[in-house]
Amino acid sequence: MTKKLIKGAQVVNEGTTSKQDVLIEGMRIAEVSSSIAPTADMDIIEAHGKYLLPGCIDDQVHFREPGLTHKATIGTESKACLAGGITSFLEMPNTNPQTTTAQAYADKLATAAKTAWANYGFMFGGTNDNLEEVKAVNPKTTPGLKLFLGSSTGNMLVDNPETLKEIFSVFTLPISVHCEDEHTIRTNLKKFTDVYGDDIPIMHHPDIRSEEACYLSSSKAISLAKETGARLHVFHLSTARETHLFSNKLPLEKKKITSEVCIHHLWFSDEDYLSKGTHIKWNPAVKTAVDRAGLWEALNDDRIDIIATDHAPHTLEEKSQPYTKAPSGGPMVQHALPVLLECVKQGKISLEKVVEKMCHNPAILFSIAERGFIRPGYYADLVLVDTEKTQTVTRDQLLYKCGWSPLEGTQLRGTVTHTFVNGALLYNNGSFATDKNAQALTFDR
Ligand code: DOR
Repeated sequence: MTKKLIKGAQVVNEGTTSKQDVLIEGMRIAEVSSSIAPTADMDIIEAHGKYLLPGCIDDQVHFREPGLTHKATIGTESKACLAGGITSFLEMPNTNPQTTTAQAYADKLATAAKTAWANYGFMFGGTNDNLEEVKAVNPKTTPGLKLFLGSSTGNMLVDNPETLKEIFSVFTLPISVHCEDEHTIRTNLKKFTDVYGDDIPIMHHPDIRSEEACYLSSSKAISLAKETGARLHVFHLSTARETHLFSNKLPLEKKKITSEVCIHHLWFSDEDYLSKGTHIKWNPAVKTAVDRAGLWEALNDDRIDIIATDHAPHTLEEKSQPYTKAPSGGPMVQHALPVLLECVKQGKISLEKVVEKMCHNPAILFSIAERGFIRPGYYADLVLVDTEKTQTVTRDQLLYKCGWSPLEGTQLRGTVTHTFVNGALLYNNGSFATDKNAQALTFDR
């Protein structure tokens, strides 16, 4: 049956919530209306009491393929996406080989075409010496460029000022940046290794990957963007101080400088290092409760445009090493939306704002064609959530290849029950369809 009628859900879309029926025909949304009469050729999905959202678009994930597939694969992690209501993802270039050549890019797309459960796009990676490759990216099939302006997993640091200026001057698509000042980090790290050797207590992570390191790097990137006219997107803000570098004076469509915040920086604070240890070691570091409050404020007043996960799995064995050896990053896609549903219950954000930041805005910012909204004619990427169904994150239900989550033991008031990708119901209350239905994202430029 190619027609599906989602009956009676509270549809959250474009700033409002209202009870609507949504008809799917083939891959697309055919109709949204207060009452659509069922016919014999429709599958009916009874959704009274639930909320229907556009599928979430995660603009920052690390799925580790190729080269690091002992941690994760595009197949395993994109399946976890569906259980978490994420129907499209933009994946990062710090794989092995790095996604910094046309060939590596084509190879990644080919792997995703065979194995991805969610719609996929891949960021092209900039380095100190691949300017010609950067200039040649296809704007219709590439969301944009990713630059590491601070080192992290994968040694992709771009630290040549001339190259950086040239990239910012010539590249017209969004340039997404990881901002942490390398010199500051190295100086801080030396201070702590001099005292502790490799086994630095984890609570010093935000003293090493400090507020100053973030602020210095973000403000430098913003100055360069202003000077060159580049379209800059600053990933994973982690400090209250950085939020003041961003403005809410223009609508997103008109902004040249935008920002993202990640679930872990909204959820954890430095008080959690004691119980969670290196499981919450991320770059940039989780900082203070005051920083977290500042991030929430900037998110709600639109200085921050997007919520993402920075899903970055490592094995438990890797994470169990002493501070200097334990890699940064952790998995998140399966519970990002449920965490936000819990935050809605706690009064930190409205459900309409969650949809804006996780569905509409990534589509607008990266010009993703025909997705991110519940509109007739758009692809039927849709998520049903039950905000009355509480779940506790336990290891046995995790779909990540790495098999752990920094959220284990956490109770979340909100559960994804159904996920549709291009009109196909691929996730239904814990079960997956046998056939995938994902597509390569295209970009409307
Ligand atoms: O914590 C992080 N992990 N931050 C990054 O920027 C990279 C990521 C990874 O790939 O492990």
